[in-house]
Amino acid sequence: MIRKCLFPAAGYGTRFLPATKAMPKEILPILNKPLIQYGVEEAVDAGMHHIAIVTGRGKRALEDHFDISYELEQQISGTSKESLLTDIRRLIEECTFSYTRQVEMLGLGHAILSGETLIGNEPFGVILADDLCVNEDGPGIMEQMLAVYNKYRCSVLAIQEVPEEDLCKYGVIAGRELDDGVFMVSDMVEKPEPVEAPSNLGIIGRYILTPDIFDILRQTKPGKNGEIQITDALQTQARQNMVMAVKIQGRRFDCGSVTGFVHATEYFYEQFMKENQE
Ligand code: G1P
Repeated sequence: MIRKCLFPAAGYGTRFLPATKAMPKEILPILNKPLIQYGVEEAVDAGMHHIAIVTGRGKRALEDHFDISYELEQQISGTSKESLLTDIRRLIEECTFSYTRQVEMLGLGHAILSGETLIGNEPFGVILADDLCVNEDGPGIMEQMLAVYNKYRCSVLAIQEVPEEDLCKYGVIAGRELDDGVFMVSDMVEKPEPVEAPSNLGIIGRYILTPDIFDILRQTKPGKNGEIQITDALQTQARQNMVMAVKIQGRRFDCGSVTGFVHATEYFYEQFMKENQE
């Protein structure tokens, strides 16, 4: 049973300036729901009710979003608008939210290490809210990964096939396929040059990590772009122990890019229209 899910959310969101000048990128909405709320719902669907968020300066809106707003509640109480708060109220009731600040931006590995104080010594999920994942036909992505964790009891990565020209934007794995779409990882490269890519399998922003990752991260030297990379720490973990990767069933939108954000918006709008026609 994995109880905790970590959300690294300290980044500046520079690709969305000026929208992210005074607002966290994780609060940008796809239709009427902030990106991070989709991620939290996915964690809860996988049974993870302790939501640990690594924040940074200027991210207060995240804490306010996952809290009750008494004035607002009172204003709309008994009106037709009240139903718009049903989902977020459920999350606030079902989950515990805890926060810590990443003081310096030294990479995703460093952000995850900053979350150690909230996680402690137990396995945990990690969701990058930028990567919005949906599976219409079955369990959510974190739930799919949990099934692999329950079988192999080691860190698990989510992967998908990526066009060759885009591999340089991802951590890329090589591995041996043990079950259908489930690989034992033998190699991992963060944002490789085309000739260095060990396969076409890119890591997407979902991880289940065993807590020994924290000690490994402490020993991990800055890698690509001078940042402490979770990919490098996982490479060490794969050599010392075992790391699995699973091809996700469903769709993933890269909402860290304007194009991905628009595609996600179109997709959720279509879903919304379908639901409202029935
Ligand atoms: C991070 C990881 C990378 C992974 C990607 C998925 O990169 O470092 O390995 O493939 O997330 O979105 P970022 O996109 O934060 O640069």
